[in-house]
Amino acid sequence: MKLADIGLIGLAVMGENLVMNMESKGFTVAVYNRSTEKVTNFVEGRAKGLNIIGTYSIEELCKSLKKPRKVMMMVKAGQPVDDFIEKIIPYLEEGDIIIDGGNSHFPDTIRRTAYVESKGLLYIGTGVSGGEEGALKGPSMMPGGSPKAWEAVKPIFQAICAKVEDGSPCCDWVGENGAGHFVKMVHNGIEYGDMQLICEAYQLMRDYLGMSNEEMYEVFSEWNKAELDSYLIEITRDILGYKDEKGEAVVDFILDTAGQKGTGKWTAIAALDEGTPLTLIGEAVFSRCLSAMKEERVAASKILSGPAVKFEGDKKAFIDDIRKALFAAKIVSYAQGYTLMRAAAKTYGWNLNYGGIALMWRGGCIIRSVFLGEIKKAYDKNPELTNLLLDPYFKAIIDDAQAGWRRVCAASVMSGIPVPAMTTALNYYDGYRTARLPANLLQAQRDYFGAHTYERTDCPRGEFYHTNWTGEGGNTSASTYVV
Ligand code: 6PG
Repeated sequence: MKLADIGLIGLAVMGENLVMNMESKGFTVAVYNRSTEKVTNFVEGRAKGLNIIGTYSIEELCKSLKKPRKVMMMVKAGQPVDDFIEKIIPYLEEGDIIIDGGNSHFPDTIRRTAYVESKGLLYIGTGVSGGEEGALKGPSMMPGGSPKAWEAVKPIFQAICAKVEDGSPCCDWVGENGAGHFVKMVHNGIEYGDMQLICEAYQLMRDYLGMSNEEMYEVFSEWNKAELDSYLIEITRDILGYKDEKGEAVVDFILDTAGQKGTGKWTAIAALDEGTPLTLIGEAVFSRCLSAMKEERVAASKILSGPAVKFEGDKKAFIDDIRKALFAAKIVSYAQGYTLMRAAAKTYGWNLNYGGIALMWRGGCIIRSVFLGEIKKAYDKNPELTNLLLDPYFKAIIDDAQAGWRRVCAASVMSGIPVPAMTTALNYYDGYRTARLPANLLQAQRDYFGAHTYERTDCPRGEFYHTNWTGEGGNTSASTYVV
């Protein structure tokens, strides 16, 4: 019997397309699905005549694999992953590899890597981005887990993943245990931010400038030809141009309530845990939450007042300002995302290659863009870059864009049009470049009511002082601890 190069569990959209992709690159793939009629349908339908072996039990799947066996799960994140791991383990031997290609939460992947390794096996948790088309034609892949597993999996992953213009694969080893899923989670958070920024640009053009879908289609087409060239701008253009059989724009009939599966929320929580500002992605998550409160918003719209929306001025110039605001805020979002990755790398002991991550995101994934090529260059030049905003290339862009960015934020505030991502990015930018923030007063307040102590500008860092502000409290200060 011919043995397969890899086994795949879970023949839903992503799983099935990944199998087709692997087969097209010359690999033989054994497949299994919990409801086994899916296996039959697949091998007798789309996979007919191809090097794809249908199997009807986990045991049969594992027995049909070359050693070291590689079993990849493309199943729903959460309990199903743990359940399958338990079912697979009895049929594997030392050095065999279990791979999770779903959107698992990275702490789960950290735990599972340790567990699977404790059984003498190896584990990979990999981000796979690009949706259905990416899975079939070349996704971006972000693998992490047991380093020893990489050599065996690399030829398959780097064959099936997306490639950039010079042929470099959009897949490389990210780091130990949960590093791959962490980076995929940040990718998704950034995806939320990019989408929110585009939606804010759309709302400004639609509601402030009163533009038609056709006019906005033209603007996004133009934007996609220059520095904003990206998959999300491209699909936005196409969505705005899309009409149904009756000739009506489908986008106008879609209810304005956003869904979410949780990866953006996880990213924001990780940032809160690390204590690094990730304000734009946070706003993007909360904006989805606010949009979901449709009935409440409709009721509030009849009660709460705001300024009249009225644009006066040069429309073309304002559209260009919107482009600048979008681009500048996008740079802030990536700067914040990268800062989060740096902080997490320290916490979890990962040695992340930031230029390499930009390359993995350069093609195949949802946030793919020309812009990521510039981020790669910035980190290749200086792997220790503390903040993307400090890179000369990005600094120059912000210098050029900031007047327009500020005009857009100011006009939105004065007209009552919500642009939470564009404005929070500007507030972060202004906060980050402010040498003296008002936290001296905040520290005084903490010390006033709780004797929490403060450091002084005229004394070395690390020395803590307390003032008896009212003359009534004692001189005892609270102990210093960080929650
Ligand atoms: C990808 C996407 C994908 C994600 C969807 C839906 O990289 O291909 O990030 O993994 O699941 O975009 O995410 P939400 O339902 O949370 O919007």
